[in-house]
Amino acid sequence: MTDAFDSSTVDSELRENRDRHVTELQEFLRIPSVSADSRHHTDCRAAAKWVHDQMAACGFATETVETDGLPIVYAEWMQAPGAPTALVYGHYDVQPPDPLDEWTTPPFEPAIRDGCLYARGATDDKGQLFTHIKSVAAWLKVAGRLPVNVKFVIEGEEEVGSSNLDRFLADQKGWLACDIAVVSDTAQYGDGIPAITYGLRGILACEVTIRGPRQDLHSGVFGGAIANPANVLAQLIGSLLDDDGRIQVPGFYDDVVPLTDEERQAFAALPFDEHDFCQSLGIDAVSGETGYTTLERRWARPTCDVNGLFGGYSGEGPKTIVPATATAKITCRLVPDQDADKLTHALEQHLRERCPPGVRLEFSTYHGAPAVVCDTSSPYMAAARTAVEAGFGLPPVMIREGGSIPVVGSFKEILGADTLLLGWGRNSDNLHGPNEHFHLDDFHHGTLASAHLWAALNS
Ligand code: BES
Ligand code: ZN
Repeated sequence: MTDAFDSSTVDSELRENRDRHVTELQEFLRIPSVSADSRHHTDCRAAAKWVHDQMAACGFATETVETDGLPIVYAEWMQAPGAPTALVYGHYDVQPPDPLDEWTTPPFEPAIRDGCLYARGATDDKGQLFTHIKSVAAWLKVAGRLPVNVKFVIEGEEEVGSSNLDRFLADQKGWLACDIAVVSDTAQYGDGIPAITYGLRGILACEVTIRGPRQDLHSGVFGGAIANPANVLAQLIGSLLDDDGRIQVPGFYDDVVPLTDEERQAFAALPFDEHDFCQSLGIDAVSGETGYTTLERRWARPTCDVNGLFGGYSGEGPKTIVPATATAKITCRLVPDQDADKLTHALEQHLRERCPPGVRLEFSTYHGAPAVVCDTSSPYMAAARTAVEAGFGLPPVMIREGGSIPVVGSFKEILGADTLLLGWGRNSDNLHGPNEHFHLDDFHHGTLASAHLWAALNS
């Protein structure tokens, strides 16, 4: 049990040190820790060291663990015997900053404008992760202890599929034992509407290349007589979805758990304005699978999206060639109980069966993760509601999200732990895009909510 310590002194400590916290976060954001780009792996290691030093300075026992990829920082404070143990997860890696010329200020030179901190990783996930680091630091500084035991696992490969994390979780299962995991890497429901996310979609990621002639050829001399890899790729991509937005890969929907009526009603009860949604994205209409609402399509239905498409000439002006190759990067978002490996295989089969003679199809797989839906009735969930309300001044709504965080499925499978997905960001924070930012109010409210969570988990 938490004794008579007045946790409002932790709040005061956090409020008094806001500016310092922002300055420190800016330091973290200056490190270009792009995991997808091997030229930035030294920077990723620098970010791991930065996190290590922060955790050690808080008074946590801290270790940096090497993997076959980028290091994982593990830290723990285990001096609350008999109290629950929470395991905080975050990632120090960020997405590539491209397209660079669309940033108002450079992605790794953090800048404050209109109450927001702009930088790659500001919301995803350095800023959100940092709220938990600052909340435990404040507790230990003013109270000399935390109300619960807390462990941190901070990795550097989330944005490329967390492929070395499961091995670490399995090898260090004993070390990592916990009652509940805590992840702040999602978003609030909307401006001024804090949320707890109880479900995430899974993912499969692959790349397909069509190879034709030995080299680019004159399209007047050879066009019409040989298969054009770019045309073939376009046809194959066209075969993936029908006019109702249904994925045409055989068996794709076999394992899908349909939404319940209760859940559909709960989604429908959330405020959602389609016109505002479209306007905020610069589009004039929504689009997707027939028979489902926009929230259902985003949170609880599978998708198949081309993420990148290239081949042939992309410089200025025309160029008359039949390109030698064309490539597409493809991801599918998955829902319970779809299996990423099984569906990757089905997708490959679908493409191979349709690939015409005269070209070769190469298929490679990047990563996969299952969808998750967490228990909303646990005492941990109740503690999370109390904490979010204390931090943001409003009770949270319960939502699902369309993004994926591979570790959440792994926590369940390997450690047997459910996760509290407490997102302090906003989907309008431009995560993964140019001009990513984090509202400073969200940063401070998130830090307060985190501080309250430790007390609420032991009350
Ligand atoms: N923070 C996101 C996931 C997210 C964002 C969930 C917004 C819900 C709302 C995370 O860092 C991310 O982008 N994950 C990747 C995972 C993939 C590379 C395996 C994703 O969802 O694309
Ligand atoms: Zn993230």
